[in-house]
Amino acid sequence: MHAWQIVDDWKRENLKRVELPNPDPGRGQVLLEMRAAALNYRDLIVPLRGYGRKTGTLPLIPVSDGVGVVVAHGEGVSAPAIGTRVCPLFMPRWQGGEATGAKIDATLGGPLDGVMREFMAVDANAVHAVPEHLDDTQAATLPVAALTAWSAVVTHGQVRPGARVLVQGTGGVSLFALQFARAAGARVFVLSGDDAKLARAIDMGAEAGLNYRQTPAWGSEVKAWAGGDGVDLVVEVGGEKTLGESLRAVRVGGEIALIGVLSGGRFDIPLGPVVTRHVRLQGITVGHRDGFAAMCAAIGEHRLVPTVDRVFPFDALHEALDHLAAGRHFGKVCVSL
Ligand SMILES: NC(=O)c1ccc[n+]([C@@H]2O[C@H](COP(=O)([O-])OP(=O)(O)OC[C@H]3O[C@@H](n4cnc5c(N)ncnc54)[C@H](OP(=O)(O)O)[C@@H]3O)[C@@H](O)[C@H]2O)c1
Repeated sequence: MHAWQIVDDWKRENLKRVELPNPDPGRGQVLLEMRAAALNYRDLIVPLRGYGRKTGTLPLIPVSDGVGVVVAHGEGVSAPAIGTRVCPLFMPRWQGGEATGAKIDATLGGPLDGVMREFMAVDANAVHAVPEHLDDTQAATLPVAALTAWSAVVTHGQVRPGARVLVQGTGGVSLFALQFARAAGARVFVLSGDDAKLARAIDMGAEAGLNYRQTPAWGSEVKAWAGGDGVDLVVEVGGEKTLGESLRAVRVGGEIALIGVLSGGRFDIPLGPVVTRHVRLQGITVGHRDGFAAMCAAIGEHRLVPTVDRVFPFDALHEALDHLAAGRHFGKVCVSL
């Protein structure tokens, strides 16, 4: 089968097109014929061994997010039925409940082999059917970006109608957070470094927005938008250079969902306001199968459609990664398989 692998050494140029034997589904597994993949920020850093030893070993099939069709059952498996379109779950061992190291350490696209291949054999309980109204590239975006946003907004954030939510940026996670918060009846403020993207996010239902390049001290403006007391939830993807402003923007007793560290991963913030203002800092690591099931039900019920920026052909994985790295995308960058 056709596949992509990182071979020999951890360098981007060692991400190569290869031919591999077709896998057979083992006991308890299903065989998937892959249809589409979607890129995440992590796919840029895995080829550089960006997660240290947790990145895995070489050779490694890259990319975490994908969708495929069940084409065969291994011994002892009868569901999902042949022909069902499913996503392999990013954290196959986290079926539900609280996170533990053992549940969240094994992840697709490093250290486990990812989705950039024609066929993959996976445990039957590590896949989940996708909403029928989505096309293949839209469905491929769900396992990491959408589930992370769902965990932040719904599982942990418990956003209710009328809640005020701050979403940073217009990348994959952030646009899903915008969609889920709006579907829950919340009001959304969006930040972007690009005015045209801000306008698009407002078209999608955000109530207001600000360009974080033009207004780097946006915290007090967001707080004022929220009626002076601050937002209930911040979907934090910036990290080092944004967390201080997020602390200004959040209300007493509000939550900051710590998801990404795009502007750096070290914190130098005054801790006093976190304590005295009763702020919850909630780390998010994607989510579990139960969350994925609930999210798919909500996407189906609300007919939500993921925002796909661009779809590249299978052979153009490097071009797709370059497009993601350039940061001009709005929503998800996908690859057709
Ligand atoms: N914890 C988890 O489970 C988890 C899961 C998925 C992703 N992540 C992390 O979350 C982050 C976002 O992932 P993604 O896949 O959504 O990335 P993405 O699609 O590449 O989107 C990144 C977007 O963030 C915005 N941004 C960059 N710097 C910013 C800043 N200083 N202030 C506000 N916004 C800023 C930009 O939006 P504009 O172009 O509009 O300015 C950019 O397009 C990454 O760090 C990723 O590793 C974590």
